[in-house]
Amino acid sequence: MDLTHRPRRLRRDRVRGLVSETRLAPSDFIAPVFVDATTEERVPIESMPGHERVPIADSVTRVEEVLETGVEAVMLFGIPESKDPDGTRAWAEDGVIQEATRRITAETDAYVITDVCLCEYTDHGHCGPLEEELRGPDVDEGGSTCEATLTVDNDATLATLEKIAVSHAEAGADMVAPSGMMDGMVAAIRTGLDDAGYEHVPIMSYAAKYESAFYGPFRDAADGAPAFGNRRHYQMDPANAREALREVRLDVDQGADVLMVKPALPYLDIVSAVRREFDHPVAAYNVSGEYAMLHAAAEKGWLDLEAVAIESLLSIKRAGADLILTYFAEDVAQRLSADR
Ligand code: PBG
Repeated sequence: MDLTHRPRRLRRDRVRGLVSETRLAPSDFIAPVFVDATTEERVPIESMPGHERVPIADSVTRVEEVLETGVEAVMLFGIPESKDPDGTRAWAEDGVIQEATRRITAETDAYVITDVCLCEYTDHGHCGPLEEELRGPDVDEGGSTCEATLTVDNDATLATLEKIAVSHAEAGADMVAPSGMMDGMVAAIRTGLDDAGYEHVPIMSYAAKYESAFYGPFRDAADGAPAFGNRRHYQMDPANAREALREVRLDVDQGADVLMVKPALPYLDIVSAVRREFDHPVAAYNVSGEYAMLHAAAEKGWLDLEAVAIESLLSIKRAGADLILTYFAEDVAQRLSADR
């Protein structure tokens, strides 16, 4: 028996830290924050224990709570006071995100990233204005029919995304994060920001965002579920990996500064492939469903919440993510600081 190689030698307590390849730090995390223009008090989000929608007046306090844990960046999502087919409240100067961003950036040191999308602002819940798409001719018995279906109007959405991003930058956003998966969205936003004098504002693109069932709890939280149909006409097919690299490359060519993969845990192969293929910082979004399922199992006593949360985030980082958007940000950051 040749036991020259005994990997267990380096697994003893005092040496484990020295040979550890991956380490989590509070500065790795971005905490999502929901600001709700329809409420005067905090509303707990049932499917995301520990998270709440906060009124605009409370947005600074909410971000201060995040900062206290050691997390330095937040991602803002807004629930507007009203919705319409075009989502016009998304780029209103007195819109929910614009108001919250102005207050947060004036009163805290948080690095403020804003989600640039329309699904929370349109009354139909899709990520842009709709257009009829002519399908067919479908051949069924008898002959051909031409059926009209509704889909998001890609090019009309681009002009809108540009306006939203500029309005966020005007309000003081440090970084913008388009999440709508429209073709050409990064280029449109880059041009818009540059023309308006915001060439210093980086874009974190939701570059490979999948049409995932793991977004369920978020859609309750942000009130952004599609009123009909689904998002598979614009978000990516979970079956595809090579396509993710093409999607990401397009965003790189259009000037994306940070590349995001979303969701995280079911797509670690994509995180790792994007890490290998590109030099840019890679972000992964540990989404609402990933958070909710661990909480639900922990509530039943089936999993140790803190342990699985840390192991999940460690896996995401090990796969190659530099930045992690996670609803565990505050809890895990606090834990990490306490351990030190
Ligand atoms: C909006 C958006 C979504 C998420 C982030 N931005 C929902 C969606 O695309 O349906 C999901 C985040 C999560 O589940 O935590 N475009």
